[in-house]
Amino acid sequence: MNHNVMDRLHALLTELSLVQADALLEGTLERAAKEEPAYPDFLLDLLSMEKEFRTSRILQTRTRMAGLPYLKTLAQFDFSFQPSIDERQIKDMQTLRFIADYGNVILLGPPGVGKTHLAVGLAIEAMRGGYGAYFVTANDLINDLGKAVREGKLEQRMRQYTRSKVLIIDEVGYLPLDPVGATVFFQLVSARYERGSIILTSNKSYTDWGTVFGDQTIAAAILDRLLHHSTTVNIRGDSYRLKERKKAGLFSPAPPARDEEAAHATGA
Ligand SMILES: Nc1ncnc2c1ncn2[C@@H]1O[C@H](COP(=O)(O)OP(=O)(O)O)[C@@H](O)[C@H]1O
Ligand SMILES: [Mg+2]
Repeated sequence: MNHNVMDRLHALLTELSLVQADALLEGTLERAAKEEPAYPDFLLDLLSMEKEFRTSRILQTRTRMAGLPYLKTLAQFDFSFQPSIDERQIKDMQTLRFIADYGNVILLGPPGVGKTHLAVGLAIEAMRGGYGAYFVTANDLINDLGKAVREGKLEQRMRQYTRSKVLIIDEVGYLPLDPVGATVFFQLVSARYERGSIILTSNKSYTDWGTVFGDQTIAAAILDRLLHHSTTVNIRGDSYRLKERKKAGLFSPAPPARDEEAAHATGA
């Protein structure tokens, strides 16, 4: 190979920020020398590798910025373990139509049933689909916005939670909110209303939200906006964590008094 030409090629690819094509140039040329593809095929091959690399790098950056607690996909979700979930409903969300329509997804159920997993899985799908996502627990969100109120920086901090197309608010209802917390939560839901999607998880049914927000009126106003364009997934089932511990033998012999554990100790 002509070294002068190779140097100029590398310099050009670098200048054009075709990082991956630059890195794979020698290998691709060697393969082409053996396989002798048509010129367009050669170019297609090199540029496709560049494109693939960029897509995965964008996804990586998005994923890092999203602040997900763990990376689990919808494909890793075992729907057979949680029959109360309509798999078609989740598959339908996977089309991401709800994001284009500024719709919300609310996942309700007791601890360990997969609420966060599904929220994370949907967030990953959204990012694969080119949307930005941001994950926060309700607790961190309220602490952050409460602090912003005290410092007179609410508007500025609010932007953190309104700029992504998808905001995941995890664990609403584990801790009751004070009046400031309830108010900033309402403001956030209003700010995102018909502008961006919220994926929310909660261990409390809607009837308990008055208690969670410490005020029936504000809870009703939040629910009014949240539920206007939304899908609720009500998960009624056993904790997956419990099943895993049982598999590890930590529950044997199963205490007969506890229905939930007994059912699973038999492999149900
Ligand atoms: N149906 C399921 N299939 C596969 N893993 C699951 C399933 N349900 C829960 N898990 C796993 O169990 C753990 C607890 O689930 P998580 O979604 O965090 O529960 P929670 O409902 O409390 O948010 C996670 O590691 C999650 O990946
Ligand atoms: Mg959770």
